[in-house]
Amino acid sequence: MPVLTAHNICKSFGGEEVLKGISVDVEKGEVLTVIGPSGSGKSTLLRCITQLETIDSGEISVCGDTLVKTGSGGKAEYSDRAACNRIALHMGLVFQNFNLFPHFSVLRNITEAPVCVLGKTKEEAEKTARALLQKMDLADKADAYPCQLSGGQQQRVSIARALAMNPDILFFDEPTSALDPELTGEILKVIRSLADEHMTMVVVTHEMAFARDVADRVIFMAEGVIVEQGTPEQVFGCTQSERTKAFLSRFNSTGV
Ligand SMILES: Nc1ncnc2c1ncn2[C@@H]1O[C@H](COP(=O)(O)OP(=O)(O)OP(=O)(O)O)[C@@H](O)[C@H]1O
Ligand SMILES: [Mg+2]
Repeated sequence: MPVLTAHNICKSFGGEEVLKGISVDVEKGEVLTVIGPSGSGKSTLLRCITQLETIDSGEISVCGDTLVKTGSGGKAEYSDRAACNRIALHMGLVFQNFNLFPHFSVLRNITEAPVCVLGKTKEEAEKTARALLQKMDLADKADAYPCQLSGGQQQRVSIARALAMNPDILFFDEPTSALDPELTGEILKVIRSLADEHMTMVVVTHEMAFARDVADRVIFMAEGVIVEQGTPEQVFGCTQSERTKAFLSRFNSTGV
């Protein structure tokens, strides 16, 4: 059973169709990277799947649980609040700009949701948080505040925060694009190590070498549709669509 099934997702903003019938399945342990030009709908797709946006029509199921399906009138019909909340617990999202709570310590940023949402004891949550900080090479930063950390460190805290909820699937929306090149590498290393541990992940990225290297499958999106998808070898090495070729050549010519 796929961890995520999204079928024929459509989403418009004020009459502009941003997602035009996107379908994607993600299997357990699979790493999917999503590439494509700015404005192609990559973030909107992640936001729709993780319930930060609602869809207009289409179907989304997570771990076999239906979040939304298209009703008889052709419009999206969401499951009840309890189901939506339950499904949200299966998913973690790491943003481009970290989104840590500035007034909480690093440790509390990580323990807050496990305590308040999952009902873990403070001791239990802190034990997990410290283990995750150790894994992120940030054991000494538990009592620091986000503003005292580098961007790369803040992003590693936000990855630890997502992992503390023990999600079945983790989404990353351009996790390195707010970082200096030298800090980018440390985040890519963390994501790669999660891939080695068979964490199920969907990673939107402009880092083409990384998208190729870490993925089991690559999706190229443009103008709200999936133009091309396949293994990294297929999409990067044996590109079929002219649109994909044009996009990739821009990266090649700039040496990125
Ligand atoms: N909340 C919103 N209200 C109105 N329009 C939106 C909203 N969010 C996104 N859009 C529009 O939807 C389109 C797709 O945006 P989206 O952020 O999904 O693109 P993207 O592929 O993530 O781009 P980038 O690579 O620049 O992050 C854009 O035209 C954008 O202006
Ligand atoms: Mg985006």
